[in-house]
Amino acid sequence: MVSAGNLTGGGGVLLAHGRGMKLMHVVGARPNFPKLAPVLRAGGLAGATQMVVHTGQHYDDAMSDGFFRDLGIPAPDLNLAVGSATHAVQTARIMERIEPVLIAERPDWMLVYGDVNSTMAAAIVASKLGIRFAHVEAGLRSFDRSMPEEINRIVTDRLADLLLTPSRDADAQLRAEGVADEKIVFVGNVMIDSLFYALPAARATGFRAKMGVNGSAVVVTLHRPSNVDDPGRIKMLATVLSEVGRDREVVFPAHPRTRQRLEEAGLKLDRVRMLEPVGYLEMLDLVENAFAVITDSGGLQEETTALGIPCLTVRPNTERPITVTEGTNRLVPNPHDIIAELEQVCRPAVAPRPEGWDGHAGERVITALAHSL
Ligand code: UD1
Repeated sequence: MVSAGNLTGGGGVLLAHGRGMKLMHVVGARPNFPKLAPVLRAGGLAGATQMVVHTGQHYDDAMSDGFFRDLGIPAPDLNLAVGSATHAVQTARIMERIEPVLIAERPDWMLVYGDVNSTMAAAIVASKLGIRFAHVEAGLRSFDRSMPEEINRIVTDRLADLLLTPSRDADAQLRAEGVADEKIVFVGNVMIDSLFYALPAARATGFRAKMGVNGSAVVVTLHRPSNVDDPGRIKMLATVLSEVGRDREVVFPAHPRTRQRLEEAGLKLDRVRMLEPVGYLEMLDLVENAFAVITDSGGLQEETTALGIPCLTVRPNTERPITVTEGTNRLVPNPHDIIAELEQVCRPAVAPRPEGWDGHAGERVITALAHSL
């Protein structure tokens, strides 16, 4: 395999080498879709033959099909319809259903994205079939194995033939774990490609105005099991958010898991606008104009950095340290500290631009694949 090494720039001439290359993209859950979109677009421009397999891990319109529409990408070629289940059952179902597809199609490259169960399940199957696969967003580590995503990251990176990283810390981490240099390619952040691409359409939704949201709302998303599955913790968060609502408008589009947990615990959040999960464009419109974002999502830590919006991440750690060292993110493990932290936030004069967060990462992914054929 020829190493693509260290790709900078927009991909350029090498994109032409993608012609005829057969790619299978495997996605399954909400955060995968904005990562897929720019790679799919770049693959199309390069003349690759492409197929998108959706595992069906997420299935509600607001968590899945709506994202394909918002991102302007075609519906998946195949949906494995695995649905929700325990981690073992969901992972096993994906493995069982994707194996015949991989055998029938034998792509030159399978691509998996991020750190969800669909990512790891497809990685294991491709690896055992001897089908080469690339991991987009390789090398991120929270060093917290109580997060299911951390297990998914470690297993996927261990098996990947090509590890495409969003930031230099990820390169260093993979080298420290003994991954061969020629398998690691820094491509930058594909999420930020989607962000730049979608901003004009997000502004055009007029979503904030339609919802009557003021200019300086605090936007909240929380869905990690560590925050919402423990009844004591979710109660504490509900109390703090209601408190924040005394001084500022608080808007909280709630993940289905969070809504269920709030209902089970009999919690109602005073002075907080609860919304159903909102689409990708609507969320960008909310976030671009927020006073601050309170979240435990990975993607939002990056999006707020790129938009220059202060972000409080309610976790003790992050697999995206660059959002803290170069961006607008602060870790707030203790919910009781949220109010004091909010008083200190300030918006940077210019939005931070970490290296490779330039809207061209998708092209560099395709270049790396073509280079490594
Ligand atoms: C998954 C990912 C997580 C990601 C999150 C984004 C894993 C291990 N976790 O977590 O990394 O940040 O997606 O959303 O892969 N549900 C619905 N409709 C849907 C999907 C789920 O109602 O379309 C409900 C179901 O009750 C389900 C629950 O949400 O049991 C959790 O869904 P699941 O995909 O298991 O995990 P997430 O919490 O969404």
